[in-house]
Amino acid sequence: MLRNTTTGYGLVAIAFHWTMAILMLGMVAFGLYMTSLDQSDPSLYPLYQLHKSIGLVVLTLAVLRLAWRFVNPSPKLPEGMAPVERLAAHLGHAGLYGLILLLPFSGWLMVSASPWGIPTYVFGLFQVPHLPVPAALGDKATAEALLKQVHEIAAWTLLALVAAHAAAALKHHFIARDDTLRRMVSTAPARADI
Ligand code: HEM
Ligand code: HEM
Repeated sequence: MLRNTTTGYGLVAIAFHWTMAILMLGMVAFGLYMTSLDQSDPSLYPLYQLHKSIGLVVLTLAVLRLAWRFVNPSPKLPEGMAPVERLAAHLGHAGLYGLILLLPFSGWLMVSASPWGIPTYVFGLFQVPHLPVPAALGDKATAEALLKQVHEIAAWTLLALVAAHAAAALKHHFIARDDTLRRMVSTAPARADI
């Protein structure tokens, strides 16, 4: 069962969710680790290239995931949720989608703005061009510094939102005892709609 139904997620959405969850959280840890090392060490170069390569894969997956979401039904939220909980769930998911796009995009724009002009080689295979940096962001050094801040703040925002998101999933499972978590690990709830 590949597609979503109104009662649950299909295999594609489930695979996207958990692959991206691991990649996004792994990339936050990776970014924090590599920026904590001695920045004058030349052996950092391959580490930065790897961070950028995985990040661009994440950006590609994010676009594919959103496209898949728009050509599929979205499972309905469980009955019995208060209007404010429904709103929080929708805003939370929208925020997570926004960050899945903003993190890699701000990273790409940041390296494009860098006065060092260091090229990005995806897994050493091919070079990815730099993006045009909007003039409104100021000169290269100012734009790079600003985008670095955006990249870092977005990463901490992601951690906070994911903590709330995972807590909500556990609340659904153990307190409300509904199918919310189950339908993100199994396609069985999706089949109830057939
Ligand atoms: C896909 C999701 C991504 C996540 C979750 C992520 C996360 C992070 C984090 C947490 C840091 C450390 C921030 C700090 O403490 O300064 C970082 C640094 C960095 N990221 Fe990413 N990143 C992602 C994608 C990318 C992409 C696509 C690029 C470039 C193509 C990129 C380029 C960089 C660079 C150059 C740094 C070092 C910034 C500095 O020197 O302070 N990142 N990233
Ligand atoms: C770490 C533990 C995580 C758990 C337990 C978890 C659990 C869930 C569950 C149960 C749903 C389904 C909600 C529903 O049916 O209405 C969901 C949806 C979603 N999750 Fe997670 N998640 C986790 C991590 C993440 C991470 C790290 C991200 C993003 C970086 C993320 C992004 C999303 C998005 C965007 C949706 C909405 C899917 C849609 O309906 O379009 N999740 N998650």
